[in-house]
Amino acid sequence: MSDGASQADTTKARVQAQYGPAAEAYAVSQVHARGASLARLVELAEVSPDHTVLDVATAAGHTALAVAPLARRVVGVDLTPAMLAVASRLARERNLANVGFIEGDAERLPADDETFDRVMCRIALHHFPDPAQAVREMARVLKPGGRVAFVDNIVPPDPAAAAFVNRFETLRDPSHHWLFPLMELVAMFREAGLGVTHTETLDKVMDFYDWTERMSVPPSLEAELWVMLMTATGVTRDFLAPTEQDGRRTFTLHEGIVVAAKPG
Ligand SMILES: C[S@@+](CC[C@H](N)C(=O)[O-])C[C@H]1O[C@@H](n2cnc3c(N)ncnc32)[C@H](O)[C@@H]1O
Repeated sequence: MSDGASQADTTKARVQAQYGPAAEAYAVSQVHARGASLARLVELAEVSPDHTVLDVATAAGHTALAVAPLARRVVGVDLTPAMLAVASRLARERNLANVGFIEGDAERLPADDETFDRVMCRIALHHFPDPAQAVREMARVLKPGGRVAFVDNIVPPDPAAAAFVNRFETLRDPSHHWLFPLMELVAMFREAGLGVTHTETLDKVMDFYDWTERMSVPPSLEAELWVMLMTATGVTRDFLAPTEQDGRRTFTLHEGIVVAAKPG
């Protein structure tokens, strides 16, 4: 096995180690279950009752469950079995019979070519060791004329600020791979043969303790992460915008939405 391949396997093993124990926390995570990008992504996907939809890296299924009432059939794929178990339970609790969850790798989607009318992928690409390959897979399984509705956290184009934010994220979650500036994400979709029809950005104010607890960050690392935020300067400081008031600590993350269409 090449170094690159074994590095990718290590990243994916880290994902399962990190996300398995976090599955229940994701079921109730406000950022994931109710974050602004969810409603916006569903709106931009323009799902119709005759559509089949794939949700890549579905985690606790929030995106798949949000589009299920609008679609004919929805499939959620994720690498972490514990997440899929939580997603299936939530589907049962909501009486959503047209959604199913299967284990699979975003870089080798378990689906035939040109199967889905819509492919969605929310806040997950930064985990994939080969994100361009995952985007090519999204394009492959999309029907001609179909649409990808995608969102992930983004970083500033400034390379030093981008490296800082990625280091900060990796310290909290060792399965974090890389966040990109919006324009690099757009380039990935274009290189996969899709036409980018829409982009936008959203800011999300994060509760610092909620963010660390979701990944079971130990107290010493939590302290280190806060020091990192408070000592950031320039573009990085403006981007992450940490605040502390009445014991509540927050900082800001930024999401980039990309809507892309497969030529019909
Ligand atoms: C932040 S969660 C995604 C949130 C979810 N899409 C939502 O809207 O709430 C990240 C998920 O990516 C999954 N993941 C990471 N790498 C993956 C890969 N290579 N293939 C499939 N899923 C992956 C993890 O198991 C985890 O459940």
